[in-house]
Amino acid sequence: MKHLAVFISGTGSNLQAVIDAIESGRLRDTGISVVVSNRKGAPGLERAQRHGIPTIYHPHLPYRQRGLAREDYDRDLVALLEPFAIDLVVLAGWMRIFSLEFLHHYPRVLNIHPALPGTFPGMHAIEEAYAAYRRGEIPETGVMVHWAPDEAVDSGPVVMSQAVPILAEDTLEALESRVHSVEHEIYVRAIAQVLGVTLEDASSSERERPG
Ligand code: GRF
Repeated sequence: MKHLAVFISGTGSNLQAVIDAIESGRLRDTGISVVVSNRKGAPGLERAQRHGIPTIYHPHLPYRQRGLAREDYDRDLVALLEPFAIDLVVLAGWMRIFSLEFLHHYPRVLNIHPALPGTFPGMHAIEEAYAAYRRGEIPETGVMVHWAPDEAVDSGPVVMSQAVPILAEDTLEALESRVHSVEHEIYVRAIAQVLGVTLEDASSSERERPG
């Protein structure tokens, strides 16, 4: 059994996709041991609790108020994760950059970003791609899953990427929703691949479900 720690700061729809893949039996030999959030109100925390997954809320503000460094925050995070014997850290909308303090302890950190490799890093990737398409600069956008081995943002060795078409009639909301659907599938596939566990195809796990 492989043990994941999923890190979130917000909605947690990618977390939900991983939970669903595990609970449906699609993603084999894998469990989410803990969900970590740096934001108290992150809806993803509720999703975890609904599925009986332990959660850790680890806010940064107290560290900033005491004038402590990112490394201090990360060192305590490492200590909080220690009991869970984590095989893979999965970032799913986690809005902080790890210091090397954390990455030395957890060299296997996977991130998902809603853009093709080398394009639109940062928080507004889909909006920026949409605007670039409207200006005629790009024909499509995409999604990538990559290793996060250092402090760089939304870059690192690419595990998987997939193009997502942009249609002339797309609203930003329509594009966002298409990008997120692709994310939800590609992240589960990438996690299975890096863990070396079986991922059933969606139709066969449907068939296996009782009732
Ligand atoms: C996703 O678009 C992901 O690619 C990016 O942050 C967003 C998180 O969405 N890193 P959610 O919280 O999983 O719904």
